[in-house]
Amino acid sequence: MTMIEIIMGDITRERVDAIVTAANESLLGGGGVDGAIHRAAGPRLARAGGAVGPCEPGDAMATPAFDLDPPVRHVIHTVGPVWEGGAFDEADVLASCYRRSLQVADGLGARTVAFPAIATGVYGFPPEQAARIAVATIRSTPTTVQRVRLVAFDDDTRTYLQAAMTAGLERD
Ligand code: APR
Repeated sequence: MTMIEIIMGDITRERVDAIVTAANESLLGGGGVDGAIHRAAGPRLARAGGAVGPCEPGDAMATPAFDLDPPVRHVIHTVGPVWEGGAFDEADVLASCYRRSLQVADGLGARTVAFPAIATGVYGFPPEQAARIAVATIRSTPTTVQRVRLVAFDDDTRTYLQAAMTAGLERD
């Protein structure tokens, strides 16, 4: 059973095997959490991302973590859906980001993985619904990852993630 932890902070400070970045399809870097991770990992991350990309929304691809401090060894780049009102399979694409990232982590032998709140920034996905999708998908995806840390960057996101965890427990 994968343990899920909710924390608030900067994902580039996480001490895990792999951190997930909310990328764009080019995997060349951008703003937001992607920008923070690219700054921390250094310019080789964009070169490695460009070499494996482009990445379809809902898919995930791994590169080394370069200048990020150990134990981080991998960056898993996933591309969230741009929110267009909810009628364009955005929820399924977001769920796929979490599912595919765990599958990629399994392939890497990663045991601990940190996720940001994918798609809830620039891409505009409603954060409360995104939190429920994140927790439900991680709970329902078979994986050898032992510990998932969901990293909130603001109070509201942390509250939504905590509520999603509680709601899931009541349902189980
Ligand atoms: N650590 C953890 N979370 C962070 C950090 C950080 N250092 N910086 C930002 N976040 C949070 C945001 O507050 C938001 O909750 O990450 C979440 C995702 O927001 P974005 O980074 O805007 O990602 P997204 O909405 O998926 O948009 C992706 O933005 O930066 C570009 O290249 C990226 O085109 C892509 C798009």
